[in-house]
Amino acid sequence: MKPRGPLMIEHRLIEKMFGQSQKEVIKMKNNKIVDPLFIDTIVDFIRTYADRTHHGKEEDILFVKLKTKNLNKKDNTMMNDLINEHRYARSLVVALVDAKNKYISGDKSCLPVIIEKLETLINFYSEHIKKEDLEFFPNTELYFTKEELDTMLSDFWEFDRKMIHERYQKVFETLSKK
Ligand SMILES: [Fe+2]
Ligand SMILES: [Fe+2]
Repeated sequence: MKPRGPLMIEHRLIEKMFGQSQKEVIKMKNNKIVDPLFIDTIVDFIRTYADRTHHGKEEDILFVKLKTKNLNKKDNTMMNDLINEHRYARSLVVALVDAKNKYISGDKSCLPVIIEKLETLINFYSEHIKKEDLEFFPNTELYFTKEELDTMLSDFWEFDRKMIHERYQKVFETLSKK
């Protein structure tokens, strides 16, 4: 398997999760209420899986290795765009959490904000994933030798191996601060 294999497998789960979120958005629009538990679930999925585990491998391994290569202008611009898009997704999640917190404290006017942030996230990820799967991954793979691709793949597995420990270390740290 090439390193883009696990990244693309992760993209498929992210797509399925946002497909599910689309159904929740329709329910929210019809019933005019928010299920805060769903928001917590999708936020945890985005932060732990889509951002830390998935964007983490992209930013901490793939992009770091690509920065040592002589990228052409198009690939370099796209990499910087992708980094900015990851930041943008994080800011959307912060805004979503903020709107959900206001909503559960009684500010029901946040319902359209929650819907808007979710819909923006759904559309954003779909475009971002398409860009990586169809252009960025295949194009930038060409900068690496077979050995470098193999090493990157094992770096990815090692990154994943540490994830669950990092996640629950953070859970402990958050709890212990209370
Ligand atoms: Fe990405
Ligand atoms: Fe990605």
